Amino acid sequence: MSSIEYKNDILTVEGVPLTTIAKEIGTPSYVYSKAEFTGSLNAFQAAFTGTSHLVCYSVKVNANLALLRLAAERGVGADIVSGGELFKALRAGISPDKIVFSGVGKKAAEMREALEANILMFNVESAEEMRLLARVAGEMNRRTKISLRINPDVDPRTHPYISTGMKENKFGLSREEALPVFAEAAQSPHLEVVGVDCHIGSQLTETEPFIEAAERLKKLVLDLRAAGHDIRYLDLGGGLGIRYKDEAPPSPADYASGLKKVLGDVPGLTMVLEPGRYLVGNSGVLLTEVLYNKANGDKHFVITDVAMNDLIRPSLYGAYHGVLPVKKTGETPLTVDVVGPICESSDFMAKDHPLQPVAGGDLLAVMSAGAYGFTMSSNYNARPRAAEVLVDGGHFTVVKPRETYEDLVRGE
Ligand SMILES: Cc1ncc(COP(=O)(O)O)c(C=O)c1O
Repeated sequence: MSSIEYKNDILTVEGVPLTTIAKEIGTPSYVYSKAEFTGSLNAFQAAFTGTSHLVCYSVKVNANLALLRLAAERGVGADIVSGGELFKALRAGISPDKIVFSGVGKKAAEMREALEANILMFNVESAEEMRLLARVAGEMNRRTKISLRINPDVDPRTHPYISTGMKENKFGLSREEALPVFAEAAQSPHLEVVGVDCHIGSQLTETEPFIEAAERLKKLVLDLRAAGHDIRYLDLGGGLGIRYKDEAPPSPADYASGLKKVLGDVPGLTMVLEPGRYLVGNSGVLLTEVLYNKANGDKHFVITDVAMNDLIRPSLYGAYHGVLPVKKTGETPLTVDVVGPICESSDFMAKDHPLQPVAGGDLLAVMSAGAYGFTMSSNYNARPRAAEVLVDGGHFTVVKPRETYEDLVRGE
């Protein structure tokens, strides 16, 4: 059962009416359920019990310290892609020896910070990056573990912008390109080649692409071992999808059992998983107030105070987010576009979406907004960023206050 549900026709998060949060905190506000988030974390971890594994929460998805702390308390590590994410993960108490550093464009300064922190390993994406890391580690008299990110050329059957494991994507190295990089890295006294890494894409709703990638990488692991490399880690990235509308993604248990079937017979291998969206996507909603109704011919627009600067996924990927009334009236729904105040036609939360008739002052919830929501928000149109609220069993806390106008000019 979800912690985000109607009670007496009012949409609630862990029993707290969203009307109460809107009244006290205002709109737009991201509202997260602790129970949903920790429930997903527990389910994901439980799915891998019995196998040597490390779950690294993908910080880019939702980097609020309150959530990172909940992850840290449960022994979860972090998948980071910047010095800023390293800073936040450490600040939240995530153990450095459970942090992996991914990303195609790490800078020397970020490498230094991560070496200083003694993270578990770098997921290296190119020969040039490997050489720079060897140099930076050398200057610091360090030796660091690395994995090489492989592009397994598997079609994840997801949106092209969040597909990352095909030849045409910028990520990782093909097997053929990677082999000499493994060999060169092994020569460096400052690098310890311990792993193979991939991340084929996000919002995958089938198990097969994961399995296909795991099979290809298993073969590579075995070949590398035969060539003398002590490969102990296989990082399979993130990507497990969630239900936004009518998708039926695999459960963590199905996903894990598929991977275990492929990899279970490889001795001495630790699976690293970098889930993001699965852990937090359906743990959050974006609460907004209706401003106006307006019609252009047949088109009916509901104009709200939430905009593409707050949640860019619909504009960027044409992503679907359900929009629900906070107070359900039972009236026959209209077909509407839910749009924001920003001066772009791409500023919408939903198109041709069924919604009961609403009026200015009514509240709506943009659903499944916990992942890639706040972290992708901006100040476009000089809009202060939304507040973030965490609900925990009947109580709620502002875990990031709404930005002020002063925040907009800080440093300018
Ligand atoms: C390297 C890496 N790991 C993990 C993730 C998290 O993916 P997801 O949110 O689909 O689980 C991403 C997302 O793009 C990524 O780039």
